[in-house]
Amino acid sequence: MSTVVDRIRSKFHKLDPSTQSNYTDFKVRSTTLELNVLFGEKRITGNVQYDLTNKTNTDKLVLDTSALEIKQVKVGGEPVNFQLDPAKPVLGSALKIPVPQSSAIIVEVSFETTEKCTAIQFIKGDTGPYVFSQCQAIHARSLFPCFDTPAVKSPYKFIGKSPAKVTMSGRPRSSDVANVYVFDQPIPIPSYLVSITSGNLCKAPIGPRSDVYSEPTNIKQCQWEFEKDMENYIQIAEALVFDYEWERFDSLVLPSSFPYGGMEIPNMTQLTPTLICGDRTQTTVMAHELAHSWSGNLVTNCSWEHFWLNEGWTVYLERRILGAIAAKEAKARGKSDNEAKAYGEQARQLDMISGWNSLVETCSTFDPQFTKLVIDLEGKDPDDSFSRIPYEKGFFFLYHLETKLGGVEQFDPFIKHYFKKFRYQSLDTAQFVDTLYEFYTPLGKKDILDSIDWDKQLFTSGAPDEPKLDTTLASEVYKYGGKWVEYIKKGEGDFSNIPFSDADTESFSGEQSMLFLEYLSENFKTLKVPVDLIRKLPQVYPRYASSQNGEILSVWNDILISNGNYTAEDEIVNAFAAWLGHTGRMKYARPGYLLLKNGVSSEYAIAQFKKHEAFYHPICKTMIEKDLGLN
Ligand code: BES
Ligand code: ZN
Repeated sequence: MSTVVDRIRSKFHKLDPSTQSNYTDFKVRSTTLELNVLFGEKRITGNVQYDLTNKTNTDKLVLDTSALEIKQVKVGGEPVNFQLDPAKPVLGSALKIPVPQSSAIIVEVSFETTEKCTAIQFIKGDTGPYVFSQCQAIHARSLFPCFDTPAVKSPYKFIGKSPAKVTMSGRPRSSDVANVYVFDQPIPIPSYLVSITSGNLCKAPIGPRSDVYSEPTNIKQCQWEFEKDMENYIQIAEALVFDYEWERFDSLVLPSSFPYGGMEIPNMTQLTPTLICGDRTQTTVMAHELAHSWSGNLVTNCSWEHFWLNEGWTVYLERRILGAIAAKEAKARGKSDNEAKAYGEQARQLDMISGWNSLVETCSTFDPQFTKLVIDLEGKDPDDSFSRIPYEKGFFFLYHLETKLGGVEQFDPFIKHYFKKFRYQSLDTAQFVDTLYEFYTPLGKKDILDSIDWDKQLFTSGAPDEPKLDTTLASEVYKYGGKWVEYIKKGEGDFSNIPFSDADTESFSGEQSMLFLEYLSENFKTLKVPVDLIRKLPQVYPRYASSQNGEILSVWNDILISNGNYTAEDEIVNAFAAWLGHTGRMKYARPGYLLLKNGVSSEYAIAQFKKHEAFYHPICKTMIEKDLGLN
């Protein structure tokens, strides 16, 4: 067993290549972070105090910073001379601080963000000034000097000062001082989970231990979207792993420039407003962020090379939660226990089919070095490596283990064991495999583990072997999609009588609709569909054509604009570009601009982006610029 694990361990870095800090020399006992929001200057000033154990008696502390101004550094209460190195690409400027070679030290740094800060965005909210941060993967260093590696965790006290309400990554404590907000985070967390939001925020309950926050303008819609599911999700996750340890699970719906679908900030999950679509179909993102309370936030990848441990596990738990919800709803519709359970599994398998399709698609289009499960980030920007791979290849690796080890009944006890064993810690892929052997060897399943091709699973580019998936719920969609393919292959002339309509898809669930549209999108690319037919699609499916749901909107427009030979003058194109101009979620914005580039013209895509670039968060702006070849 140890040879398998040692071999795996020998294949990746021992230390996190994405930090310059000397994090292995210290243990962080606690951190106090104070941030002051200056809306007028669009800056945050702050002060961070580290209570450290100097484990190796080193005489130097090195912290990560990026585009930060360092005002003063104190060690043991006394100002010291510090050194701020020139910025290195990706990594930023190392902050070097002389420290005594004694075991317990207190280091305090005061600092100020600059306009090059990549973590924060100041915007005009609907009802007043607004600022929010996004630190994952390595942007925390542009908000405050830190050990910017997920290998380091600390409990925190947060103090936020602002004329507007503040939320940070902890439990709110009462404060008697006006404009001062205090939070405790007793559970040790890594730097990438540090966050601050300030604006005109209000809240509404969506469960017994959950409120949703947003600006007052759409708080009611936010409440409606989540109140049915929130507590159900938590209880199902608790049964699957173990009790929720963070006390409350609150969430915050951000303005539309928020670059992700969701971000698992402890005690204050951040969400894109694209989830508030009025049909509760996007609450799955909430299930995903909730699952991170265990996978990622309690048990954390020790560097971004092992990101699959965060996201693959989270997708695994998310799909288990959503499968259980589907079963529960089937039961409520009068199905027997067994039928309901079977239906829940069919729903999970349908999700897996979409996941598999996106895994295959990513493997065939994305930079092959980043289609490995465990990647090499030496000298690379983690944002450039980001894709569906850690999510779906990670998921299918876990599903492969689940299947090989005998199904969910055999895998469930391992889930609990793994999360208990590593809670409050960070780990790598070798420790994960080691734990599999530790758990399953006494159960007589070592041979099964030995039969797994670890090299192929962990260190090889491209898609894994295709798993057998249950197509009960997908087959309806494929049968209907197949009729389209047949129809197009036959070719009917002027398409005056298209034998399809909205009514055909009325019974589809949200997932099934997505699978159908993705099926059309994929097949139309190879079929050479006549432009006349494409241009009639909005009349065939007015429901999809008028959808305000971002998932539908993006694949629908992909079908039209990739195949319809539209120009910059067409209404379809302009409406889509206008939508992109106020949609900062990268999942939609990045492929959206590529669609304009490939479907219309590079000039048009660039002109549209230039028109809206001030709207986007710095992370999103940089990625679109890279995608469009602007830098
Ligand atoms: N933690 C991620 C978002 C993230 C990843 C931010 C990497 C920065 C760097 C979050 O949990 C996530 O996965 N969001 C997804 C949601 C989805 C998979 C349900 C997203 O944003 O699309
Ligand atoms: Zn995630």
